[in-house]
Amino acid sequence: MRRFACFVAAALFACVIMDAQNIRFDQARKIWLITSEHSSYAMGVGPSGELQHLYWGAPLWRIEDVPAAQTAHDISSFDPHEMIENEEYPGWGGPRYYEPALKITRADGDRDLVLHYVDHRIESNELTVRLRDIHDPIEAVLHYRMDPATGILERFSVVENRTKQALRIESAQSATWYMPPGDGYRLSYLSGRWAAETQLNREPIHEGMKVIESRLGHTGHNFNPWFAIDRGDADEAHGHVWFGALAWSGNWRISVEQTPYRQVRVTGGMNTFDFSYTLKPGESLRTPSFYGGFSERGFGEASRLLDDLERADIAPHGAKARLRPVLYNSWEATEFNVSEAGQKALAEKAAKLGVELFVVDDGWFGKRNNDHAGLGDWFVNRQKFPNGLKPLIDYVNSLGMDFGLWVEPEMVNPDSDLYRAHPDWVMNFPGRPRSELRNQLVLNLARDDVRDYIFNVLDKLASEYNIRYFKWDMNRTFAEPGWPEMAPDEQKEIWVQYVQNLYDILARLRGKHPKLEIESCSGGGGRIDLGILRYVDEFWTSDNTEAFDRLRIQEGFSQAYAARFMSAWVTDVPNMNGRSTSLSYRFLVALQGALGVGANLNNWSAEDTTLATRLIGTYKQIRETVQNGNLYRLRSPREHDTSANEYVAKDGSQAVLFAFRHSQQYNLPAPLIELQGLDERATYRVESIDNKLAGGPREASGAWLMQHGLQVVLKDDFDATAVIVRKSD
Ligand code: GLA
Repeated sequence: MRRFACFVAAALFACVIMDAQNIRFDQARKIWLITSEHSSYAMGVGPSGELQHLYWGAPLWRIEDVPAAQTAHDISSFDPHEMIENEEYPGWGGPRYYEPALKITRADGDRDLVLHYVDHRIESNELTVRLRDIHDPIEAVLHYRMDPATGILERFSVVENRTKQALRIESAQSATWYMPPGDGYRLSYLSGRWAAETQLNREPIHEGMKVIESRLGHTGHNFNPWFAIDRGDADEAHGHVWFGALAWSGNWRISVEQTPYRQVRVTGGMNTFDFSYTLKPGESLRTPSFYGGFSERGFGEASRLLDDLERADIAPHGAKARLRPVLYNSWEATEFNVSEAGQKALAEKAAKLGVELFVVDDGWFGKRNNDHAGLGDWFVNRQKFPNGLKPLIDYVNSLGMDFGLWVEPEMVNPDSDLYRAHPDWVMNFPGRPRSELRNQLVLNLARDDVRDYIFNVLDKLASEYNIRYFKWDMNRTFAEPGWPEMAPDEQKEIWVQYVQNLYDILARLRGKHPKLEIESCSGGGGRIDLGILRYVDEFWTSDNTEAFDRLRIQEGFSQAYAARFMSAWVTDVPNMNGRSTSLSYRFLVALQGALGVGANLNNWSAEDTTLATRLIGTYKQIRETVQNGNLYRLRSPREHDTSANEYVAKDGSQAVLFAFRHSQQYNLPAPLIELQGLDERATYRVESIDNKLAGGPREASGAWLMQHGLQVVLKDDFDATAVIVRKSD
C-alpha cells in the first residue's frame, strides 16, 4: 500500500487527475494507468486518435514515467507505422495485417474499420473506453476492471452498431495483449485429449502465429483457454510471467503472434472460425471476458493469483462458498446398472467412510441401460427405482449425506421419446446426415424453446427432490451445427447463442435453487473454463482417474484453476490404462483436490475401508488448506522421479506436503524437499500421515524447513506420502 501513498503524493504534485483508487488518467497527455499491488497496465491515445497499448508489467506508481502514445514512422512502404504501433483494440482496416480485434462487413460491402478514441468513463475500479470508426458510428466499448487483490485485469468489449444499416461481425475478440517489446519469449499452454487433459507445454515463441482453440462447440479437451508467457527464464518461483484465461465455454481462440517488429501479441475471444454475427441497427454484442495478470515470482505466483481471483470473484458464493464435500459416485463401479437397493447399499458404506455427498450417475432415467437410449427422457426409470428417487434420497439424507444426480441435459439419443417427439430440436442441416457420437445428438440449445424445455426439466427435478448437486455432463462435440429456423446469414450465431443460453439456464437454476451446486463435466475435462465457473462449483477434471496419469493432468489443471474446483476421485485398480497403484497412493493423489470416491465399495476389504476412513478423516483436517490455500508446485512430475506439491493455509497455520515417487533406482533415497511459503521465524510441528518422515515427527523452524528441507522415505515404485506441518502456538 506504500506504493499508493507515493503515488498519491506524486500525482497531486503533478496535477494528474485521480479518478479512482487504482485507475488514473492524465488528461493532458491522454494516458491511463491502472495499478494494483501486483501489476500495472497503461495505454494512451496517439496523435491521430488511435488507442495504443503502453505498458503491462510490474506495478508503477508514477504516471509521468509513461510516455505519451506516439505515431511511429513507416519503415518502408511494406512496413507501415500502423503495424509498429501497439494498437489496443485494432479494427481490420487501413494497412493493418496482424490479427485484428474487430473485423466487420457492412451491408454495402464496405469492410474498412479504423477505430479511434471518443471518450471514456471511470467508475469505481472499472474503466470503459469508447472507440468509434473514423467514418461511421460503429463502436467498440472496451471494458477494463482490475481486481485490486490480484492485479488481474478483466477485459471485454461491447460492439455496437449505431449506423442505419445492418453489419456482419466476422471477428469480435475480447482483447489484445502485448508483451514488452523484445524476443526470447516462451509460451506455456495446456493441451490434451479425452482422458489426457490439461497437459502442460512450454515452447519458445518465434515469428509467426501459434493458435490454440476450440472449434468443437464446447471448451474442449484439446486445448484449455489459458496461456502464460515468460522471457524464457521463469520457473515456479522466479521470473516475470504474463498470463491470461478466457471466460468462454464455446468455440474460442487464442492466438500468440510474434511480428517482424519484435511485438509479441496475444489476441483472444470467440473463435473466428465459422463465425458470423449480424448486428442490426441499435444492436450490440458483448464479448466474453478475457482475464490477464502478471507475476513477478514465476509460474507459482501466477497460478496463485488466478486461484484467488476464481475463488473470490468468479465462482458462485465467492469467499462464502462452502468447502467442497467428500463425494461418492458409483459410475466406475456400476456403470448403468443402478437400482434403489444397490445404491442404498453403497450409500450405507459410503456414509461410514465419512462421505458427505452421494451422487447417482448415469442410468437412472428413461430406458437408459446403456449409452444407446434414453438421453432426453428425464423421468425416473421405474424398473430401477420403483417408487421414484425419493426413498433413496431420504435414505441418503438419513445417513447424513446430501444427494446429487447426474444429468446430460444438452443431449438426446435418437432412441428416446424426446427425439421421437422433436426431431427438429437437434442441430442439423436439413436433408444431411446427423453424425452420432456415443449414439447421441446435440440439442440446439440456441433455440429458446429448447432452452426453456431444459430449464423446466431441471427445475422440476430440483423442485421435486431434495437434490443438492447436479453433475452436468456433456458427452460429445458438435457436428452439422445447422439452425434451419434462422435466416441463412444468421445461422452461424448458433455458436454464440448456444453458450449464452447454457449460461442462462445455469443462472436461472441457481437463482431459483440457491443451495443447488453444479459440477461441470464434459466427458471428463471438456468444459473447464472461467465462463462456466461463474455458474458451477467444481469441474470434473478427467475421466482418467488413474492416479499416476492424474499427477500430470492435475499439474496442468493447477496452472489455471484452483484445487477447490478440481474433482479428484479414488477409483479401483487396475484402472483404464491397466496400471495398479496402492489405495494409499490413489488417495494421496486425490486428496489434492475436491475429494471423491468412485470405487466399488462392495469389493473393498476391511483394511481398505479402515484406510479410506482414516484418510477421509485426514482430508477433512487439511481440506481448507488444500481447497483455499496457496499452492506451491515444488517438483514437477514431468521433470522429476519424485514430484511434490505443497499447500499452505491462507492464515499460515498449516501446510501440507504431498510427495510421489515414481520408481526408486539404485536404492537412492528420495531427494530433500524444501518447503515454501512458511514463516522463517515460526516453529512448526511436522508429521507424516503414514510414518514416512525420516526420523519421525518433530518440531522445526520455517527457516529449516525451507532452507534445508524435509527427507521423506519413499522407497517403492509408486510410493507416496503426505506431511502435515502445523504452526506451533
Ligand atoms: C461421462 C462422464 C463420466 C460418467 C459418464 C456417464 O463420460 O465423464 O464421469 O458420468 O459420462 O455416462
